[in-house]
Amino acid sequence: MPLVPTASLVQAAHEGRYGVGAFNVVHLEHAEAHVTGAEEARAGVILQISENAVRWHGRLAPLARAALAVAETARVPVAVHLDHATEPDLVDEAIALGFGSVMYDGSKLPWEQNLATTREVVAGAAGREVWVEAELGEVGGKDGVHAPGVRTDPDEARRFVEMTGVDGLAVAVGTSHAMTTRTAELDLDLIAALRKAAGVPLVLHGSSGVPDEELTRAVEAGMTKINIATHLNKVFTASVRDTLAAQPDLVDTRKYVGPARQVMASEVARLLEVLQAAERVAMT
Ligand code: G3H
Ligand code: ZN
Repeated sequence: MPLVPTASLVQAAHEGRYGVGAFNVVHLEHAEAHVTGAEEARAGVILQISENAVRWHGRLAPLARAALAVAETARVPVAVHLDHATEPDLVDEAIALGFGSVMYDGSKLPWEQNLATTREVVAGAAGREVWVEAELGEVGGKDGVHAPGVRTDPDEARRFVEMTGVDGLAVAVGTSHAMTTRTAELDLDLIAALRKAAGVPLVLHGSSGVPDEELTRAVEAGMTKINIATHLNKVFTASVRDTLAAQPDLVDTRKYVGPARQVMASEVARLLEVLQAAERVAMT
């Protein structure tokens, strides 16, 4: 099963009321782990590269081509997504490289400006089989709208979707980015109201802070694309730490990256079960 358009994975999950895991890729081994985990779970998966990761590498193309190549050789459907892009040029580059979706993040901009730029991104993606995710702005702070006390208003969500034509919407329902404890409490009634009001698949950012049972409830209440990064890095790094502590003389990077990649893959498979995404696709 080759690289697939993000829309096909998200739409099936939205209609089937299950979650689609969207896991961040910073290094090649992330992409390998996420796909191995998805194959183990027999689930589709989204590999996402954030603007942050692009800045860290200094360019998009090398990591993007690696993620696309891993997707193309996967045995389950895999989509590749650009995450948290604030630069329209980066969005264009990702589309040209063959990404199936982009998130334009204008959440730090005033409403009017976010609206205008999001519309431009939607217009640029039109007719190119690219699924566009956006985010409502207006709230400041380190996490923007993804701070524990911040909530998306259903009526604003409806207006934003109508006025921009986006395919998916990131909403604030109680998560916060980069949490290293899984203690977030979600507003499940709000999720249900937003699903109804927005009329497009909803995206949960900062899902690392959400405990397993709450992730399942969030999906049942109406969340579709579930973004997880920090939690998987935590699992990976713990493994590296353990291996190096047990074998301080190790030099070959594969000897500690390899076990960490396997542990991350197993956690991806487990999370896909939590999201009720497992056993949904046939292996090729
Ligand atoms: O867009 C990426 C996600 O929102 C990941 O957030 O690192 O808190 O899981 P997280
Ligand atoms: Zn995010």
